Amino acid sequence: MDILLIGSGGREHAICYGLRKSKLVDNIYCAPGNPGMAEIAECVSIPSDNDSIANFAVEKKVDLVVIGPEAPLCQGVADAVRAKGIPVFGPSGAAARLEGSKDFSKSFMVKYGIPTAAYATFTAKDAAMDYIRREYAAGRGVVVKADGLAAGKGVIVASNEAEALAGVEECFAGAFGAAGSRVVIEELLEGEEASILALTDGRTILPLVSSQDHKRQLDGDKGPNTGGMGAYSPAPVVTGELLAVIQKEVLDNFLRGIQEEKLDYRGIIYAGIMVTKEGPKVLEFNVRFGDPETQAVLTRFDGDLADTLLKTANCELDKAQLIWSPEPAVCVVLASGGYPGAIRKGFEIHGIREAEADGAIVYHAGTALRDGRLVNAGGRVLGVTARGKTLEEAVRKAYDAVGKIHWEGMQYRKDIAHRAFHR
Ligand code: AMP
Ligand code: GLY
Repeated sequence: MDILLIGSGGREHAICYGLRKSKLVDNIYCAPGNPGMAEIAECVSIPSDNDSIANFAVEKKVDLVVIGPEAPLCQGVADAVRAKGIPVFGPSGAAARLEGSKDFSKSFMVKYGIPTAAYATFTAKDAAMDYIRREYAAGRGVVVKADGLAAGKGVIVASNEAEALAGVEECFAGAFGAAGSRVVIEELLEGEEASILALTDGRTILPLVSSQDHKRQLDGDKGPNTGGMGAYSPAPVVTGELLAVIQKEVLDNFLRGIQEEKLDYRGIIYAGIMVTKEGPKVLEFNVRFGDPETQAVLTRFDGDLADTLLKTANCELDKAQLIWSPEPAVCVVLASGGYPGAIRKGFEIHGIREAEADGAIVYHAGTALRDGRLVNAGGRVLGVTARGKTLEEAVRKAYDAVGKIHWEGMQYRKDIAHRAFHR
């Protein structure tokens, strides 16, 4: 079969790598892809509007379109391609609002009994400010979130009232564009986070193995929030007992919700979970694979990824078999100097071949080819991923590989998986 894969990040490289291993797959077109994906697939440049993507899929007679990032999903690419009769892995535009609007997502959770932080939504600054003052007066902290997509930004986890008020000010001043003209203010939750990804075709919902991201830039979970500095799987915080609660309260209710709302959901649902004293609560839904969780999770997948994604697209997920390696996996993100602020780019990257010599996989994210040289071109540049008999071994293999890679300004966390070791 031939597949069109939309996206260009580390997540898409990991998906591409998984698809390449399938005996069912002939051609993989990546739009736009990245230099790492170009080594195992054909990168194509297609305008990003729905019609151009759908027409390309028709022209090339692809058998499946896989959509990686949230922006094309929210834009309705899945609907446009399905209208041409081609199977798509990815929810409809209407269903993608579960990520595209935090207010929509929260009201869905409340309606279907999915545990989540208490919240209120505002379209006027003064009312939002009053609400925050009342919350702090009552001894509660808050998180301020721009309603719409803000490219991983737009969430202010306030450490005090002044920061929360400044966050609201920022949203309404347009710091996150139209995404911030509506603001969700949430109860600040405490606990350990974990990511639960599940496949669903609207009839069946199947969780993948658990994982944990590292959102802060610096070791010890210090510094500013980022898109994710590393991940590992499984996350020991997700015990069998907790997973059973998540299945019942989050995943089963999610499935019931999309059925009752008649949302066409064939793809992956990502639940960002806070494990609180009262039990698991959903921080957010994403309508796509997580990045960098996917790099760790799919590295443990020993089934046929193309077959699994096609079955999801064709509403045959009940016939799919998810086969997982018991071996843990770790992904260490290598980022550009300056990230998550203004980055320094254009420096040649050395050592990827050497890093891969002992079995690590180096997924590309923010790389580019300039005059035949591989250079850093984005915030998160590479995801160095390894599997091991134990988590310790996976961590050691990943960091041994990291040690072979270099470019000017490269930075990374040295403590990926630390929470697993502190248990
Ligand atoms: P989100 O984009 O909604 O996942 O938020 C990004 C990060 O902000 C999450 O991964 C959490 O670390 C943090 N966060 C979001 N909502 C809350 C909350 N209600 N309480 C505490 N932390 C939160
Ligand atoms: N790793 C966080 C995300 O993909 O949203």
